[in-house]
Amino acid sequence: MTTETAAAFHPALLEPPEKEARPQWTELPSEVLSEIEKITGKIAAAEIAWGGYSPSACFRATAENGEKYFIKGSHPGQAAHGAKALRQEIHAYTTLKFLQQLAPRFHGSISVGDEDDWRLGIWDMVDGKTALPWTLAKTQAVVDLLWQLHSSVSRADVPDLPDGRESNHVSDFFLGERLWKRFEREDDSNRQQHFAELFEDSDAARQWLDTHLPALVRLQSGMSGMTGPEGVVHFDLRSDNILFNAEGRAVIVDWTDTCWGQVLLDIVLFAQCVAAESGIAPQTVIQQYEDVSGHIYPREDVLSVVATVTGYFADNAWRAVPQELPRLRWVQSICLQAGLSWLAAEGAAPLPGMLCQK
Ligand SMILES: Nc1ncnc2c1ncn2[C@@H]1O[C@H](COP(=O)(O)OP(=O)(O)OP(=O)(O)O)[C@@H](O)[C@H]1O
Ligand SMILES: [Mg+2]
Repeated sequence: MTTETAAAFHPALLEPPEKEARPQWTELPSEVLSEIEKITGKIAAAEIAWGGYSPSACFRATAENGEKYFIKGSHPGQAAHGAKALRQEIHAYTTLKFLQQLAPRFHGSISVGDEDDWRLGIWDMVDGKTALPWTLAKTQAVVDLLWQLHSSVSRADVPDLPDGRESNHVSDFFLGERLWKRFEREDDSNRQQHFAELFEDSDAARQWLDTHLPALVRLQSGMSGMTGPEGVVHFDLRSDNILFNAEGRAVIVDWTDTCWGQVLLDIVLFAQCVAAESGIAPQTVIQQYEDVSGHIYPREDVLSVVATVTGYFADNAWRAVPQELPRLRWVQSICLQAGLSWLAAEGAAPLPGMLCQK
């Protein structure tokens, strides 16, 4: 890889200063607090936990006995799918007993009122640091953990875990559906033009799309016939979902989209997010995983997954910024740029240019 391509991996877009619309601890109704304290004992202090991009309720709480908890879930000020996300995550924790080795210990959950009311899960707090800044030692630690996740159980051990090909939110990835394919049709959304306008030179980007879309769609279509290793897939391995505890051990959080499927999706998603947030080339992370797993992934398969993941970011980064998620389009944009740079470095499609600051 040339030095010039490596430079393109650095995020050029400034992070928006706004924060997500997470509720304060003091907004918890007394009946919710008393339900929590049945599990944790009396809470002495709590603060909002910042980190991800959603407006879910997230708290770091310390009990009077000194135990520290992480409490998260949905709340009345949030869109209805928050409760479903929490349900799915609790299902993953209860189905996959071995998660205790990779994730914080799950203590239980509380709910008050109907679906739109408070629904919270309670975990051990990871009292450490976020994954940033990335180093090769940190990516290696995560890769080791991923290999453990992907190789711990067979399908027969986890019959209740959803199949990625059948899960609403993630099936497009596993089946290679929609994503870039949506750019083939003109419709009212005008997505081709919106995509082009993400770039400094939108005319060149529009032309790039017309020229290279068939190749990207072809790569994406390769997902449906892929036969590589399958396992438990976390499916959201960004730096904000990885913490390093006080002993410096990597811990993975946010198991909302956990499902069964091609593990290459996890590896590519992780490598692409690392590339979006550091100067580490994604191929280096793939190599780390191949070394630890002893399995070499065919280049065509890797490119199929990179194209698929990049197609997701391409069809989301251009959309309007949701009021409660002010940094979502930004993170999608830097991941899009990293994916396009990766495809360019591998000769799948040249760079359409650099994204511009919105
Ligand atoms: N057990 C934990 N201990 C300490 N901090 C945590 C723990 N779990 C998560 N966090 C922090 O809280 C943030 C939000 O948690 P999590 O990712 O689980 O929530 P989420 O509702 O899925 O949010 P998002 O969709 O924004 O990622 C994480 O980015 C992380 O920084
Ligand atoms: Mg998260």
